[in-house]
Amino acid sequence: MASAKKRPGSKSPQIPKANHSPTKKHRPNPETPADILKQRESLAIFSVKEKLLAKIHAHNSCIIIGETASGKTTQLPQFLHEGGFSRQGTIVVTQPRRVAAVSVATRVAQEVGTELGQLVGYTVRFQDVTSPATKIKYMTDGMLLREALGDHLLKRYSVIVLDEAHERTIHTDVLFGVVKKAQRVRLKRQLPPLKVIVMSATMNVDKFSNYFNKAPVLYLEGRQYHVEVLHSMEPQTDYLFAALVTVFQIHKREPPKSDILVFLTGQEEIEAMVHTINDIAKGMPATCPRLIVHPLYASLPSQQQLRVFQPTPDGCRKVIVSTNIAETSITIRGVKFVVDTGMVKAKTFSAISGLDLLKVQRISKAQAWQRTGRAGRQSAGISYRLYTQQEYRNFLDDTIPEIQRCNLASIVLQLLALGVKNPASFDFMDKPSGESMKCAFTELQLLQAVEGAGEAVCLTDLGRQMASFPLDPKLAKVIMASKDLGCAEEILSVVALLSVDSILFTPQQKIEDAQAIRRKFVSSEGDHITYLNIFRAFRGLPEHDKHKWCYENYVHYRNLNTACNIRQQLRDLCLRANIPLKSCGQDMTSVRKCLTKGLFLNAAELQREGTYITLGPVKHKATFHPSSSLFGCKPAYVLYSEIVQTTRCFLRTAFVIEPEWLYETAPNYFRQSKGANR
Ligand code: CDP
Ligand code: MG
Repeated sequence: MASAKKRPGSKSPQIPKANHSPTKKHRPNPETPADILKQRESLAIFSVKEKLLAKIHAHNSCIIIGETASGKTTQLPQFLHEGGFSRQGTIVVTQPRRVAAVSVATRVAQEVGTELGQLVGYTVRFQDVTSPATKIKYMTDGMLLREALGDHLLKRYSVIVLDEAHERTIHTDVLFGVVKKAQRVRLKRQLPPLKVIVMSATMNVDKFSNYFNKAPVLYLEGRQYHVEVLHSMEPQTDYLFAALVTVFQIHKREPPKSDILVFLTGQEEIEAMVHTINDIAKGMPATCPRLIVHPLYASLPSQQQLRVFQPTPDGCRKVIVSTNIAETSITIRGVKFVVDTGMVKAKTFSAISGLDLLKVQRISKAQAWQRTGRAGRQSAGISYRLYTQQEYRNFLDDTIPEIQRCNLASIVLQLLALGVKNPASFDFMDKPSGESMKCAFTELQLLQAVEGAGEAVCLTDLGRQMASFPLDPKLAKVIMASKDLGCAEEILSVVALLSVDSILFTPQQKIEDAQAIRRKFVSSEGDHITYLNIFRAFRGLPEHDKHKWCYENYVHYRNLNTACNIRQQLRDLCLRANIPLKSCGQDMTSVRKCLTKGLFLNAAELQREGTYITLGPVKHKATFHPSSSLFGCKPAYVLYSEIVQTTRCFLRTAFVIEPEWLYETAPNYFRQSKGANR
């Protein structure tokens, strides 16, 4: 195994050696108020508190740059509150991810000494833990954008902190423009001013400062211990195996309580790895520390996410297996070793094919250094990079902003709902390409959400209703269509299930077992119906049996439970949109027809040799993913909800359709593309 042959690599020029001595032992999370205060005072941001407040008083916009764990996210909002900035409104701090919003709000409530949801609260999709008393509110960027739909000037806020700006998520990028405009209009109308603070670990400072009318930039001195960087000698063919080997090499060699952070790409991979590590750990000699393994990914329910922050007990070692979520958004104490596979799952969008692909790909150099930095937060550490130096040299310098690699249909719909007349001329920091804008308009036109062209484009009534659902426009359209097809009950379940990560739980060693047990749910009509079968069985159980049932049937309790909550909220939105909650019973044809009304752009056709070709303007060759209900089947036409590209293109979640349904749904589109495709 090549990971055994790693040697010390170049030392990071960006990670300076700490000029203070590392802590002798890892301190557990402080519990007492005095401990908390001491910990707060030790953060880099603390010494510049007055300077920061003075700058924010003097300027409407500020940029704050500081390494992770310098105290930006937890401390600045408290400073602002103490400094009187919450007198005329709430202080809101956006986070790209819900895990960060929840964990930071929890931490800050503890620091302030109040119950979560009182002075300090959070709002993430499908969950609101705030009250009229809330003055410091953490929120996902997507939720704040959604809130702006109802109040373009964001009047209830006095300060908006756009955190983790370097991540350049599509929602943060759009918020830049939205808050800048709100700030300007509030000034013009002599409303209470809006302060905007942009915070980031690293970024192109000039670009941000210029965008916010030459806003002043404040730098925080971060605390960072030395991190040794080790590269693989040879390229790894299997990064999962390499990561596993590396974890156990570290584990055998190093004393307890020096924790390991492993970067993988997604939930399934992470759950499988957690399982395997636990299995192998059972066979380790008693002299090895006990391993406590935690998964960490965006869709993990909040309570489980918070477990990663629990201090490592004596004589144990914590291993956190995470997505890029642990890169900058959150800080986990005690991590001394980072295992970086160099991979990330990212959305990529091709405007030519109109295809949104979830692709496992290489990280950027900036990401590699962020990952490395995670090992040096409390003492010196080591970063094991499972790629060679040569491979590293070929990484991109920076991550491409999401807005330049995503399907923009959802954003264009939201911008129109925000009253932006011509979304193509919106004040973007980095403009998306003209082709991807055009592609978004075409998609929305086909979904009948917009009408008109160019600068005269506007929302239809249907489009306005679609925008009220916190969903991809395709799925919002599916919900709207359930009104005519009389299957809202079923469609709500399917859409909720598509909004969570996979509900199937398939440990690598038990693939056959899991598939055999789940066979009773599998529908020849496809995954959407299979999921619905599982969900119906799950919902029919008494509460106390659900856990056991999920375990026995190899399905995810947490994801199913989350789907139940999401369903409840979508149900409320349906009632508001006057969609009758009818059930179609066992008539799954209605369910599939209804799904076709929104997903028709994701069609694929069987080819003679048994693979599928997508029916968009550009043909993609794909096959069913082994986890799909349709794996091994050969229906002539299918629609998919998700397409993933690893070594090949896989249709992950797909269902069977009749080709006539496509022509019935979008006659113009399919007449054209049929001609072009054959
Ligand atoms: O935002 P930035 O990365 O600059 O730092 P932060 O998130 O405010 O974290 C400051 C300190 O608070 C770190 O030392 C974290 O370990 C601690 N913290 C915590 O104990 N629990 C959290 N949920 C978040 C932060
Ligand atoms: Mg932060």
